[in-house]
Amino acid sequence: MTLYDQVDPETAVFVAVATVRELPNGARKIVEVDGRPLAVFNIAGALYAIADVCSHDDGPVAEGELDGHEIECPRHGARFDVRSGKVLSFPAIVSIPSYPVRVEGERILVGLPPTA
Ligand code: FES
Repeated sequence: MTLYDQVDPETAVFVAVATVRELPNGARKIVEVDGRPLAVFNIAGALYAIADVCSHDDGPVAEGELDGHEIECPRHGARFDVRSGKVLSFPAIVSIPSYPVRVEGERILVGLPPTA
């Protein structure tokens, strides 16, 4: 059973959140799209997007320290995999959403779930 919430790229609605120039290797950008806080990371040339809300106590997880593909929530230290949003350590026990990322020309787009 998969507990974490990954948005299906086939049904996602892609929204521009950054430019390629804004996200060089090693950079991250925290944005809010339709009231949804999320962050995009460039790790070794690959782009990933996760929700910027920790599943433990709503902490700003994307502001945490990054170690490879693991990010540590700055509030109480829960760790998540930025590739999938999968929870990796306590005190969080629930994974966070991850979003598909596309590059179109100079724009970086994140796929959000379609609205009903
Ligand atoms: S809010 Fe993130 S670990 Fe508690």
